[in-house]
Amino acid sequence: MATDTILIIGACGQIGSELTMALRKIYNNVIAADLKEPSEEVKASGLFLRLDVLNKVSLYEVIKKHQVTQIYHLAAILSATGEKNPELAWRVNMKGLRNVLDGCIDNGVKKLFWPSTIAVFGPTTPRQNTPQWTVTEPNTIYGISKQAGERWCDYYFQKRNLDVRSVRYPGLISYKTPGGGGTTDYAIDIYFEAKKKSFYSCFLENHTRLPMMYMPDAIRGTIELMEAASEKIKVRSSYNISAISFTPEEQAASIKKCIPDFTIDYAPDFRQKIAESWPESIDDSVAQEHWSWKPQYDLDAMTKDMLENIS
Ligand code: NAD
Ligand code: SER
Repeated sequence: MATDTILIIGACGQIGSELTMALRKIYNNVIAADLKEPSEEVKASGLFLRLDVLNKVSLYEVIKKHQVTQIYHLAAILSATGEKNPELAWRVNMKGLRNVLDGCIDNGVKKLFWPSTIAVFGPTTPRQNTPQWTVTEPNTIYGISKQAGERWCDYYFQKRNLDVRSVRYPGLISYKTPGGGGTTDYAIDIYFEAKKKSFYSCFLENHTRLPMMYMPDAIRGTIELMEAASEKIKVRSSYNISAISFTPEEQAASIKKCIPDFTIDYAPDFRQKIAESWPESIDDSVAQEHWSWKPQYDLDAMTKDMLENIS
């Protein structure tokens, strides 16, 4: 077991709840922190602290008291919720990150993981095979806050020597914890509704192609990035990573292979415009080259595993 003390902020969310369990298999001291109650699994497996990342005094106290050496800062307001409450999204996503960056520098935390997103891209970005370095003119408050966050992370690496690492996650699909208010949440809900009713009413149009990833790939990739030798990590804003791209129609066809009577209809809402501003597929060759990133799950493998695990 490695000796670092790790603090996960936003540990009760879709990613945090699984990342906490994965890190607790590797590290003895993994502190889960969030505003909300943890799952039974997270609570039973180690220390949980109630923490608001906007409260800088409390954050500093936790880091000092537990002699934290690494932070995974996941707390954020996602795209769809952010469009409903831009002020909150800006505050949590920006001020939260600034508090954590300063918290690392002021208290000797050595390493920080902070996730960015495909939402840093916008309508003027090339949508197919979107490169690592390209136009980024996001038009959601979530995307704007994450784009600014990428610049802050790079700044703290360049100017303050903080070992900060990041990936631009695509839409993440999982069964343990519900989606946190993102535009890509349809691709999670569809499996639960398919299991329950053999029917799903989708809030995106049938042809809307988006980059997605199954959670086991995301968790493995995140830990691989954090464990990689420092000299391999040459992008300190955020790396493109990619796995699968599909439309709701293609995902429905994949589900039909397991549930033949499954049907879907389409009732697009405000999230359609957000989805249309994002890439359809992502070029992650830079992450592949620098730290050997490679996904394992394709659409049918993910569908099979999701449907087997949803009770
Ligand atoms: P989530 O909404 O499921 O979880 C976020 C967690 O942060 C929640 O448990 C919430 O209670 C907590 N939180 C919110 N405000 C807080 C505060 N002030 N202090 C402490 N905790 C607070 O989100 P997620 O899907 O797990 O995403 C985690 C990170 O990954 C976010 O930064 C998100 O932008 C990024 N990301 C997620 C996806 C995805 O598809 N899930 C894709 C791209 C990027
Ligand atoms: N899955 C996220 C969202 O839809 C993308 O960052 O908001």
